[in-house]
Amino acid sequence: MGPDTAALRDQILRFREEKRALILSHNYQRDEVQEIADFVGDSLELSRIAATRDCNMIVFCGVHFMAESASILSPEKTVLLPEREAGCPMADMIRASAPRPVRNRFPGFETPPSYVYPPEFSLKDIKKQYPGVPVVAYVNTTAEVKAESDICCTSANVVRIIESLPGEAVICVPDKNLSMWAARNTKKKVIAWDGYCNIHERVTVEDVESARRHHPQALLMAHPECRIEVLERADHVTSTSGMLRFASASPEAEFIVGTEVGLLHRLRKENPAKLFFPLRNDMVCPNMKKTTLYSILKSFQENSYIVKVPEHVRVPAKRALDRMLQTV
Ligand code: 13P
Ligand code: SF4
Repeated sequence: MGPDTAALRDQILRFREEKRALILSHNYQRDEVQEIADFVGDSLELSRIAATRDCNMIVFCGVHFMAESASILSPEKTVLLPEREAGCPMADMIRASAPRPVRNRFPGFETPPSYVYPPEFSLKDIKKQYPGVPVVAYVNTTAEVKAESDICCTSANVVRIIESLPGEAVICVPDKNLSMWAARNTKKKVIAWDGYCNIHERVTVEDVESARRHHPQALLMAHPECRIEVLERADHVTSTSGMLRFASASPEAEFIVGTEVGLLHRLRKENPAKLFFPLRNDMVCPNMKKTTLYSILKSFQENSYIVKVPEHVRVPAKRALDRMLQTV
């Protein structure tokens, strides 16, 4: 650690103490951000912590929907997102009712044509097409979409959430890959929306074959946001923290990691005797990487950026999140 990093860390830790703050980090954050956090986890773990830990402030090192969930669950706490532009493009792929803004948050990344939906199409329109069918919203959605949904899910619990609902069908938004994976693992009919994560969607069968050729002893772990043909070829499909549990419990020593490369930090740190290889080196979420130690410090200094959900959206969105947290 250089002197600048040490000084930044000291200042952040002083603010943390002074403001009775909790620093939460998603598993995809930069190594140094993970290192300064009070807790590092997947979406499900982070929402549980945000809902239950006693503190005045949460500095959420992740993307916008994660900070929003923390604010929905704990409105009495000040929730800060250090980088205002750290969003999740998949969460922006569906709107509750208003037209969806069609824009590419990633200059320099190719935008596949299916990103562009008819902007007038919304979750309310799907609900009208399937009256009475419950809606499961992946946590990677806006608060407004959660508010229009019956229950939330994460990549760690999607199948259990779907099975907990009455009836033979569910609407599952916005990730088509997660929905397809869930459909493979339940007898219920899963009505999917056409969203996706462009970091996971880019992985192909050729990538899997190449990684297997280079690391013939390794087990392949894949995140359910990958395409179904990739998931079918994986040894284990699970959330980011699910991969941490799987790798440490496994007697095997080598693993190919089919998710964002930020997870490699914890995998290697917690399993120093094992080897981890990224499935693709370019599985880098630019939004997750926006947060730096400097932006955390600035966030404390400027009390920015406050994420607060209006009560008329927060209350129904909390109902959907609470149902998830009570189910699994
Ligand atoms: P996890 O819930 O598995 O951490 O995933 C969150 C995410 O954004 C995946 O791209
Ligand atoms: Fe969103 Fe994909 Fe980044 Fe996760 S990895 S935050 S789903 S863009």
